[in-house]
Amino acid sequence: MTKAIFARFALDGKCAVVTGGGDGIGRAAAHHLAAAGAAVSVFDLDGAKADAVAGEIAAAGGKAMAVGVDVTDEAALRHAMQAAVASHGGLDILVNNAGIAIRGPALEMALEDWNRVIGVNLTGMFLAARLAAAHMIEGGRGGAIVNTASVMGLSGGLYPNAAYQSSKGGVVNMTRALALEWVEAGIRVNAVAPTFVRTAFIHRLTSNPETMAAIRAATPMGRLAEPEEVADAILFLAAPCSAMVTGAVLPVDGGYLAR
Ligand SMILES: NC(=O)c1ccc[n+]([C@@H]2O[C@H](COP(=O)([O-])OP(=O)(O)OC[C@H]3O[C@@H](n4cnc5c(N)ncnc54)[C@H](O)[C@@H]3O)[C@@H](O)[C@H]2O)c1
Repeated sequence: MTKAIFARFALDGKCAVVTGGGDGIGRAAAHHLAAAGAAVSVFDLDGAKADAVAGEIAAAGGKAMAVGVDVTDEAALRHAMQAAVASHGGLDILVNNAGIAIRGPALEMALEDWNRVIGVNLTGMFLAARLAAAHMIEGGRGGAIVNTASVMGLSGGLYPNAAYQSSKGGVVNMTRALALEWVEAGIRVNAVAPTFVRTAFIHRLTSNPETMAAIRAATPMGRLAEPEEVADAILFLAAPCSAMVTGAVLPVDGGYLAR
């Protein structure tokens, strides 16, 4: 028997967009939202990956569509958002998740690399958030936006990575600012702040035994997060059970920030 309390996590009839949904955390979030009942539009720079995830969701009995789109391209993103709204009948949830890392010491970093990291991780999230919010306001039924920040937006990190840390620090405070700006429209804006998550994103780090040892040492739980564990927190922030939560940044970090 399904317990009534699970209805607080149900997303039946809701329409969601997940950016960077073709892999890693976004893919796990797309699956979680679809399993909770949402119709999901999977956005990714890599259209083939987005197609594959939409196919997996459909094969599992869920409802999904895929769009190949770069979140830094405002016109393309507007078009993609319109397609998602038209296809699923509105927009209730945005998982604002697409992100990249170009790691390196500040003194050596090329300006174009700094601009690319800020462009995808911060400006891309800003563009997706405001395009989604415009649809949510037009729909008149509020909404929930969940940004993927990072523990690196709340700490200096373990190694030189100033561009990424700055972009995620920006996402943290953008989350608070947009939560206040859109509170009267019934749009909640929150973020998750994961520690190191087992995805292709950090493969170069986790395949180096010394770096992996440093990650374990910095994480009280002594392990990586799984993408599904981050998706659990995203589902909470997207669902009615977090109705009183806005402007919050939820660490999913095995205690990383508790030290
Ligand atoms: N993996 C980690 O350790 C970790 C930790 C904290 C936060 N994060 C954040 O989580 C988010 C997802 O990371 P992940 O680990 O799942 O990475 P991932 O590389 O597994 O997946 C990211 C997806 O985003 C897509 N993408 C990249 N640039 C894009 C763009 N311009 N437009 C649209 N899609 C784009 C990629 O094609 C890819 O499918 C990122 O914002 C990342 O900064 C990751």
